[in-house]
Amino acid sequence: MNLYSYFRALLFRLEPETAHRLTFQLLDLAARTPWCAQAQRQVVEDPVDIMGIRFPNRVGMAAGLDKNGAHIDALHCLGFGFVEVGTVTPRAQPGNPRPRLFRLPDAEALINRMGFNNDGLDSFLAHVLARRSRGVLGLNTGKNFDTPIERAVDDYLIGLRGVHPYADYVTINISSPNTKNLRALQAADQFAPLLSALRKEKEILDRRYERSVPLAIKIAPDLTPEAVADIARVLVEEGMDGVIATNTTTARLGVEGLPFADEMGGLSGRPVREAATRVIETLRAALPAGFPIIGVGGVDSAAAALEKVRAGADLVQVYTGFIYQGPGLIADISRALADERAQSTRV
Ligand SMILES: Cc1cc2nc3c(=O)[nH]c(=O)nc-3n(C[C@H](O)[C@H](O)[C@H](O)COP(=O)(O)O)c2cc1C
Repeated sequence: MNLYSYFRALLFRLEPETAHRLTFQLLDLAARTPWCAQAQRQVVEDPVDIMGIRFPNRVGMAAGLDKNGAHIDALHCLGFGFVEVGTVTPRAQPGNPRPRLFRLPDAEALINRMGFNNDGLDSFLAHVLARRSRGVLGLNTGKNFDTPIERAVDDYLIGLRGVHPYADYVTINISSPNTKNLRALQAADQFAPLLSALRKEKEILDRRYERSVPLAIKIAPDLTPEAVADIARVLVEEGMDGVIATNTTTARLGVEGLPFADEMGGLSGRPVREAATRVIETLRAALPAGFPIIGVGGVDSAAAALEKVRAGADLVQVYTGFIYQGPGLIADISRALADERAQSTRV
């Protein structure tokens, strides 16, 4: 048993959102102490250049843990090579009624139907501006629940204009299962026009601020291989810079019969690992060599991270695995990925 497993046992006695708040309060405090440098020393330096950005290591924090961008320093303090915050929507919204987050410890999984609860773009940007850490930062944008899906592009454009000046990269999240019809934006007829509008706006913003900010699209695991291949083609045609695969799944494979398994929402953690890896493989086969893929879904160990990289991911992100395994996971993964790279360059 490591130290984190005792802490987790305490946390798991609390309602999940209470545990989440308490953990951030503690992490915010820890980020101001020498504990931070200590945590970072455990993480292996393994710099890579992806999407024109230098990442100090290849393990990132996935979107959704820090929806308001209010804990960026605390997350960077843990040694993540990059931190993605959001999803932010143009206007503040409360999300779905509670309970909306469920633990399935026997499967090391979570089910959530948070519904993009967040304080809105203005508050988000104020937090981003107030951060002290200069680590790599991804800003993840979405649409308000009450914006009609036909007008989704307006929300994404508002988000892009707002976050562009402060982001190392911007994520367009069209794959949450908890906003009605959102995933329909991945379908061919809607996907290309959305990306085309975003690319045009990005080019205007890149010129205005005299820096190129990469755009990454985050997709779902619940897509057929044909749909993933279609997405890959459009990503290239529309000049996107990266893809994040994947979000949570609406499937319930691997959790049948467990408490909370029938709750509505997106399932994450170990049960989504394989589906996410399959999507990454399909993307890698369909995309030109070197097109950046960020692999996420069920990364809860060095082995799971290596699986994503061998399937074709350039970087990995963690969320649910981090909840179950704690911050030691970052050091474990960074070491394994650095070793793998050292071995493959030796061969
Ligand atoms: C409680 C919770 C909230 C999430 N919120 C977001 C979000 O706001 N935006 C987003 O792009 N992904 C969100 N995600 C998805 C994660 O970023 C990640 O893609 C997914 O959980 C799969 O990774 P994992 O198995 O490591 O958790 C959320 C996941 C969880 C568990």
